[in-house]
Amino acid sequence: MNGDITQSHEWAALAKHYEELKGRRLRELFAEDPARAERMTVTAGDLYLDYAKHRATQETIDLLVSLAERAGLRDRIEAMFRGEHINVSEDRAVLHVALRLPPDAELVVDGQDVTADVHAVLDRMSAFADRVRSRDWTGATGRPIETVVNIGIGGSDLGPAMAYEALRDYADAGIKARFVSNIDPADITGNLADLDPATTLFVVSSKTFTTLETLTNARVARQWLVDALGQDAVSRHFVAVSTNAGKVAEFGIDPDNMFGFWDWVGGRYSFDGAIGLSVMIAIGPERFREMLAGFHAMDQHFRTAPFQANMPVLMGLLGIWYTDFFGAETHAVLPYSQRLHRFPAYLQQLTMESNGKSVRADGTPVTADTGEIFWGEPGTNGQHAFYQLLHQGTRLVPADFIGFAEPFDDRAGMHDQLIANLLAQTSALAFGKTSEEIAAEGTPPEIVPHKVMPGNRPTSTILAPKLTPSTLGQLVALYEHIVFVEGTIWGIDSFDQWGVELGKKMALDLAPALTSEDPPGDLPDASTERLVRKYRELRGR
Ligand code: F6P
Repeated sequence: MNGDITQSHEWAALAKHYEELKGRRLRELFAEDPARAERMTVTAGDLYLDYAKHRATQETIDLLVSLAERAGLRDRIEAMFRGEHINVSEDRAVLHVALRLPPDAELVVDGQDVTADVHAVLDRMSAFADRVRSRDWTGATGRPIETVVNIGIGGSDLGPAMAYEALRDYADAGIKARFVSNIDPADITGNLADLDPATTLFVVSSKTFTTLETLTNARVARQWLVDALGQDAVSRHFVAVSTNAGKVAEFGIDPDNMFGFWDWVGGRYSFDGAIGLSVMIAIGPERFREMLAGFHAMDQHFRTAPFQANMPVLMGLLGIWYTDFFGAETHAVLPYSQRLHRFPAYLQQLTMESNGKSVRADGTPVTADTGEIFWGEPGTNGQHAFYQLLHQGTRLVPADFIGFAEPFDDRAGMHDQLIANLLAQTSALAFGKTSEEIAAEGTPPEIVPHKVMPGNRPTSTILAPKLTPSTLGQLVALYEHIVFVEGTIWGIDSFDQWGVELGKKMALDLAPALTSEDPPGDLPDASTERLVRKYRELRGR
């Protein structure tokens, strides 16, 4: 829909429905509808979603689906898959779904055979990864590579870092990966401290190859290597992933050792392409391609399943329901898998850089809240930290619980305990414990209010057979498409990120004022000027 979705009849119907439903309790909804637990589930590939513990009825889902239709979601999904320029502010196609197309899929966009381009890069990555893994590619002294250090930030870091951690049980060639991102020197210093230059390969990952943090860290890494092995060693120890061949060459990396991608891949959507090189080296090309097949399976589900049985559509619409009707401010993601410990951080960029917008695609202001604030930690650690607020706090925090049936490695029945905790938490959040139930246990009356568990706290539960490259791909594609659904309803451009530009530019302008001996010149504001003076004083400048 063009214009303001909040003015639509469908939005008004949801607002009215909210008034009817807001006082209803999940206990009642379950009692009234015995089929609810069975009906409010959906399967997509290997992922099973239980959304019965949401403050929603079939009517809610029907109304939300009508809203999605009103917003033109079906056409917009097709527009993305066809490669139309739906990133309007940058006039670009949005084709991360093409990164996982099978080789025989046909996709020509702007006159370019996209599938052929994607597979040419994947094949080059695979050949290189195989050489490193088989020890055919060695460092300058002839020793094999033992550690790959990815230098990148944002989408050029969070995706591969999250995926490497998630899949480290599959890293079978004895090659470890590390990730350096922050311009805080502690990051690169700490990561290089115990590495041997002779067995270290740097992958400098930057879509633009102009990002200050990445280029600064890359220069430090190059100096560290040159100091130990000499200038000629650089070509054996540095490769690049970028869309900018000119800048890569300028940095001194042989363009033959560059793996490319395209302007139609957003940074936060890019680790299933060349940005995933460090992951591919660790787990091998075959497993990497299994991950791509997992992504693709979810893409197909998103593109073809009816909205009522479409996992990303249902989860995206429930996000709208809580954000815009219940006024929820945040959304917790709680993987019951230690291997997914970077998943919440990864999702923060994916969701918040995409949907943290306050104008619609046509430049007019939005009139409803956008951009869910994602946060989380793996269970059960979170239980002993912030779940108190989830259970008894004053705020509504919808949460996604993610679990896997089969552990990679089990000891002493620990995995069953882990999943028992997941199930216990979602049940306690939904159904709570009443004052009558607590009093009946003999609790002194003055303590009863402290122990009441209000319940009615909504959760999604996603279960998968095992954390594998394929299920990871399915999970990431699920959230990519949730972001898409929400962005479509809000009518915003989920694929630009202009909001991060101003601060970057100002930091470049400010840096000389911190180091100069002269009095600070033109500074942006009085508070910043005082802080610059204070910083210089503390540093004795
Ligand atoms: O923070 C803005 C941003 O452009 C992200 O979108 C991107 O993932 C990150 O910087 C890194 O950019 P690049 O890959 O070009 O170095």
